[in-house]
Amino acid sequence: MAAVTQTGQLSVAVIGVGRIGRLHAGNLATRLPQARLVALADVNRPALETCAAELGVTALSDDYRAIVTRDDVDALIICSSTDTHSAIIQQAAAAGKHIFCEKPVDHDLARIDQALAAVSRSGVKFQVGFNCRFDHSFRRAQQAVAAGTIGQPHLLRITSRDPQPPPLDYLRVSGGIFLDMTIHDFDIARYLVGAEVEQVFAAGAVMVDPGTLGPRSRPSRLPPAPRRASRHRLHRLP
Ligand SMILES: NC(=O)c1ccc[n+]([C@@H]2O[C@H](COP(=O)([O-])OP(=O)(O)OC[C@H]3O[C@@H](n4cnc5c(N)ncnc54)[C@H](O)[C@@H]3O)[C@@H](O)[C@H]2O)c1
Repeated sequence: MAAVTQTGQLSVAVIGVGRIGRLHAGNLATRLPQARLVALADVNRPALETCAAELGVTALSDDYRAIVTRDDVDALIICSSTDTHSAIIQQAAAAGKHIFCEKPVDHDLARIDQALAAVSRSGVKFQVGFNCRFDHSFRRAQQAVAAGTIGQPHLLRITSRDPQPPPLDYLRVSGGIFLDMTIHDFDIARYLVGAEVEQVFAAGAVMVDPGTLGPRSRPSRLPPAPRRASRHRLHRLP
C-alpha cells in the first residue's frame, strides 16, 4: 500500500479537472503543505493541459488508469463525472491508493456496494466529498443539537439552493439535479440529527427559467411539471 513520502507530504493525483476537480487541484497545489499534487487525468485534453499549466503539473494523462497505477501516487481525488466513480474506486483500491471521491459515489446501489467492498478488501482510506460537514454554520448547528442546546429535535427542515444552475452537459450525466444535490441534504439530515432517516416524502416540480436550457434540451431524468403547481411560473421543457 502507498505510504506518505519521506518529506511527510502525501502525493496526490486528481482525476477529472472540471469545475470541482480544478478547485481541489488548486487547493492541493497551493494551500495544503501536507500534500503534493503530482499528476492529473481528464478525457478533455484542453482542460487537462490548461489546469496542468496553471498548477505546474507535468504528469498528465487522458486515461485515468495510467494515473491510478503510478508508483509516486499515494492518494487519488476522483472528480470525474458521477457515472465513472465506482469503476475508478475499484481500480484505485486494487492499486492500494487512498481515495477521496466526490459525491455521489454512483447512481446505482449495486455498483456502490461493489465499490465499497473493493475498498474494504484493500484497506485503503476512503472519503466521500460531503463538504457541508466542514462548513462552519452546519458544524455549529450539529454541535448545538449534540450538546442539547436546542432540546430534542422533532422536525428538521432543509432548504437547499445553488447560486446558479449547472451546465446542461453536466445535468445529463449527473443523474438529474435532484439525485445530484439532494444527497447533500440526506447527509446533512443524518449529520445534524445523529440518526438514520426512517421515512422520506418527496414532491417535485420542474420550474425552469426558459433562458437556462436551450430549445429541445430536456434532460432525460427531470420529472414532468405537475398541473397542480400551475399557479407558479412554470415552464414546460420542450
Ligand atoms: N461536493 C460538492 O459540493 C460537489 C460540487 C460539484 C461537483 N461535485 C461532484 O463532482 C463530480 C464532478 O462534477 P463537476 O461539476 O466538476 O463536473 P464537470 O463536468 O465540470 O467535470 C467533470 C470532469 O471529468 C472529466 N471526465 C469525465 N469522464 C472522465 C474519465 N473517464 N476520466 C477522466 N476524466 C473524466 C470531464 O472531462 C470533466 O472535465 C460529480 O460527481 C459531482 O456530483 C461535488
